[in-house]
Amino acid sequence: MRIIFIGPPGAGKGTQAARIVERFGIPHISTGDMLRAAVKAGTPLGQQADGFMKAGKLVPDDVIIGLVRERIAQDDAKKGFLLDGFPRTVPQAEALDEALSADEVDLDAVLLLEVPDERIVRRITGRRSDPETGTIYHVEFDPPPAEVAGRVVQRKDDTEQAVVQRLRAYHDQTAPLVPYYEGQGLLKRVDGVGSPDAVTERIVAALG
Ligand code: AP5
Ligand code: MG
Repeated sequence: MRIIFIGPPGAGKGTQAARIVERFGIPHISTGDMLRAAVKAGTPLGQQADGFMKAGKLVPDDVIIGLVRERIAQDDAKKGFLLDGFPRTVPQAEALDEALSADEVDLDAVLLLEVPDERIVRRITGRRSDPETGTIYHVEFDPPPAEVAGRVVQRKDDTEQAVVQRLRAYHDQTAPLVPYYEGQGLLKRVDGVGSPDAVTERIVAALG
């Protein structure tokens, strides 16, 4: 199974991806997580990406495309994968199509998680994550348990200012992927508003 999650910042891509990969036994490939790991490790990639990410801007296509090509060539991704946060521009989608057709494999579905902009800021500014397990929480909607609450962290780009820029990047640069994948007959729209369990069931139903 080869699936893509598209959606605005805070739509629940990471939350839902963790559940779906467990269900289907495929690796979760999040370019955001890969970039944050590179920033934390201080690698040349991380040094290059840090400023773009903090400002809520997209990292240049050539950097991201190389990173994903290498990742999907690894053994664990041969049988399938869930891409979370990639592709995010039409050139990224075209590069992915090229790489997959060279391997003679196809995408199964592209899931668009739809959440209106007015809900996004609250989701983003309340997000916390456990640095030890990567589990995502929300101060209001999904508070961390007491034993975890003392160590949760907030992302550097989860400020109101950066969220406005991230939403702008989504509408300008990522939304054109909707007609792109609609044209390929792959797009499935999923309502991302409701409890995380309800959203998971909608995704599973959309995947058939
Ligand atoms: P990335 O990490 O991909 O961030 P994003 O797309 O902005 O998405 P988020 O991770 O913020 O949100 P999410 O949809 O995963 O939501 P989550 O499940 O956490 O990218 C970060 C940056 O890296 C980019 O800005 C860019 O600079 C760079 N980058 C990455 N990929 C790139 C690419 N391909 N090209 C160029 N640059 C790239 O949920 C959010 C919150 O809501 C949580 O607190 C959660 O608990 C809560 N929540 C989840 N579901 C629900 C629900 N159903 N109801 C209520 N609350 C919920
Ligand atoms: Mg995420």
